[in-house]
Amino acid sequence: MTPHIEAKENEIADIVIMPGDPLRAEYIAQNYLENYKLVNKVRNVFAYTGFYKNRMVTIMASGMGMPSMGIYAYELFKFYNVDSIIRVGSCGAYSETINLGEIVLVDEAYTDSSFARVYDNSDISIEKPSLELNERILATICNKNCKVGKIYSTDVFYRNVDINKLYKVEGCLGEEMESFALFHIAKSLNKKAACLLTVSDNLKTHQSLSSVERQNSFKQMIEIALDSIV
Ligand code: HPA
Repeated sequence: MTPHIEAKENEIADIVIMPGDPLRAEYIAQNYLENYKLVNKVRNVFAYTGFYKNRMVTIMASGMGMPSMGIYAYELFKFYNVDSIIRVGSCGAYSETINLGEIVLVDEAYTDSSFARVYDNSDISIEKPSLELNERILATICNKNCKVGKIYSTDVFYRNVDINKLYKVEGCLGEEMESFALFHIAKSLNKKAACLLTVSDNLKTHQSLSSVERQNSFKQMIEIALDSIV
C-alpha cells in the first residue's frame, strides 16, 4: 500500500501495461484478461491484475501528464515488485507522412520539462526506453505497420506548437505527455520501461481519428503489448 495505490504487494504483477485512461485499463482487463481482479480504485485510477495467456499481468492507468505518470511509475517500481512498465497511449503526429491510426514504438523521448531536474537534479532532455523491452515488442510487431522513433513529451497540451522546430530540428515524430518521466524513473531505479503509441491526431493536417477508428487501432496496440510479454 502506498499513498496512491491500495493494492497489497502480491496483488501487482511484475509487468504492468499502462494506458493513460482508467476506462482503457478496465476495457483491457474485461476483453483480454482471465481471472482478473480490481486491485486499485484510489482516485478511480483503476488497476486490474489477471492472466493473459497464463502470464500474470497488471493493467493500471497512469493518468495524464508527467506529474501523474511520475507518481504511479515511482510507486510501482519502488514499493511493489514491478520490473517493467509498458505504456500504451496516443500521440499527435507532426507530419502528413505519418498516418492516423499508425503505431509508434518510442525509441527516444525528448522533453523541455523540468521533470528530471526536479526529480534528481539531472540536466538531461532525452531519455531512452529499455532496449530489451523494445526488442521484444519489435519481434511481436513483425511486419505490422509501425514506426519506430523519437517523440516529444510535453508538459503543456494547450499552447502554440512550433511543429517545425520539434519535427525538423529535434527529429520528433509527434508528441505525448508521459514517456520521458516513465523512462527517467525506470532508469533511476534500475527498472525497465517502454512505450507504444497510436497516432490519434495530426497537428500538421488537423485530422483526428473517429472514435471507432481510435478503438480499432488501440486494440492492435494492446495486442502487441500483451503478446510481447508472454
Ligand atoms: N499533444 C499531446 N498529447 C497528445 C496529443 C497531442 O497532440 N495527442 C494525443 N496525446
